[in-house]
Amino acid sequence: MNTVAIVYHSGYGHTAEVARAVPRGAADIAGIEARLIPVAEIEKHWRELDAADAIIFGAPTYMGGVSAPFKAFMDASSRVWLTQGWKDKIAAGFTHSGSQGGGKFNTMAHLFTFAMQHGMIWVGLDMIPGGEGLNRLSFYFGAGGQAGQEPPEEAPNEADKKTGEALGRRVAEVARKLKSV
Ligand SMILES: Cc1cc2nc3c(=O)[nH]c(=O)nc-3n(C[C@H](O)[C@H](O)[C@H](O)COP(=O)(O)O)c2cc1C
Repeated sequence: MNTVAIVYHSGYGHTAEVARAVPRGAADIAGIEARLIPVAEIEKHWRELDAADAIIFGAPTYMGGVSAPFKAFMDASSRVWLTQGWKDKIAAGFTHSGSQGGGKFNTMAHLFTFAMQHGMIWVGLDMIPGGEGLNRLSFYFGAGGQAGQEPPEEAPNEADKKTGEALGRRVAEVARKLKSV
């Protein structure tokens, strides 16, 4: 059994929609257990993160970077960083923003840098933008979603959710391969 934890924050429900898509994709790979962990509940879940084979980080883009609650989680993880407790775990990320660009690149770069500080192994999105709108925002770091003023029941759209699924599937595949080496 390989475990994938998805740690995310969502203030208004959009990033949560992408977060919920990620384990659907991971479930396509046999022997994978994926678990969603909202940052608001992180205090109950540190041990699960320590035991996970892969951790996928998800934050909305607020003011050109990760949201404050997600940053609080990052800062709290400095206790883990001290012992390099997540070293060699697989990492990946996703974000959601109001505009097409909106600073998502900066958010993803922050998630990536964070994972590198923890000695993790970053898995990006192996997806050329195009088919059925998948990776329509041309992200390679991870999955990016976007919605204007639409409520989370309407946006992110199906393509952005499917892109989240693809990220979950890819991370699960890599986790399984690495475990079997
Ligand atoms: C405090 C705040 C700051 C925001 N800053 C940005 C921004 O820098 N770029 C952007 O494109 N959208 C920005 N937005 C819009 C959000 O990224 C967008 O509404 C996103 O879908 C919210 O995700 P959530 O529903 O998971 O909280 C901001 C929204 C809030 C509430």
